[in-house]
Amino acid sequence: MSTRPRLLITRKVFPEVLARLAPHFEIDSNQEDEDWPRATLLGRAADRDALFVTAIDRVDRELLEACPRVRIVATGSVGYNHVDLAACAERGVAVTNTPDVLTEATADLAWTLLMATARRVCESEHWLRAGKWGRWSFDQWLGADVYGTTLGIVGMGRIGSAVARRARGFAMKILYHNRSRAANEAELGARRVELDELLREADHVILVLPYSAATHHVIGARELAAMKPGATLVNVARGGIVDDAALVEALRAGRLGGAGLDVYENEPALNPGLLTVPNVVLTPHIGSATRSSRLGMAMLAADNLVAFATGGALLTPVSAG
Ligand code: DGY
Repeated sequence: MSTRPRLLITRKVFPEVLARLAPHFEIDSNQEDEDWPRATLLGRAADRDALFVTAIDRVDRELLEACPRVRIVATGSVGYNHVDLAACAERGVAVTNTPDVLTEATADLAWTLLMATARRVCESEHWLRAGKWGRWSFDQWLGADVYGTTLGIVGMGRIGSAVARRARGFAMKILYHNRSRAANEAELGARRVELDELLREADHVILVLPYSAATHHVIGARELAAMKPGATLVNVARGGIVDDAALVEALRAGRLGGAGLDVYENEPALNPGLLTVPNVVLTPHIGSATRSSRLGMAMLAADNLVAFATGGALLTPVSAG
């Protein structure tokens, strides 16, 4: 019988990641293209020592109680709001995440959504594909300027900083809102302001803050009403930071120029209203979706698991504090 620790991987990973893990673990992994039903996850986890999960697997007390042997949860994501850190800490379960490896790819997507939304790329492309382009006119598909305008970044961590670095190339005035002052604000040419000032002043707002109970609906009806008329809102952070129903109303009312969204409340289900407003660009949580980023995330999760299996120090532990 194998003496290697038993690992559960909740979805398909790259072959090179499996190869990295295989010498150290007895592995059970989801090889389907579908998520396991919750009951299956609880059953498969029951005899495991380690879990390799992703941002859409809820690691709560119910799951932890179902797998009392588990000593480590490695999430293949930088966000860890889906993991109950307090419950893990009570049971002596270590948690790791995957910072850094997805920073630039996610900042690129934030920028993609900003440009596509401000310049109405998707709306006008759909119109063109529908065969409606018969003539050119001066007032056709007018969008919003990006170069030389004011950008508001909510959350100035790694990804926020990467977004700000890109904004410098667009000669933008950069405002940010963050709990604490960013050590690199001078280098980024960014000024820290209260959220209300940022919403009032920014032509474009990008959300890159972590989700928690404290940031739930940070952008709701009141905040949307406080935004500059015609402004663009981009969310590459987490669903739940924006009140999607309030956003649909603001878009319908024409208060905002548009919204570029990669994350949603209750994803993969969407607020149906989002599909009925024209001035939104919607992507299916692909912020980190380049091969190098996704491989980097999965490999970093694997490296943390190997460190656990070999008694080494975890590379990127997350603490409950
Ligand atoms: C993350 O890493 O948190 C991204 O949202 C991908 O899940």
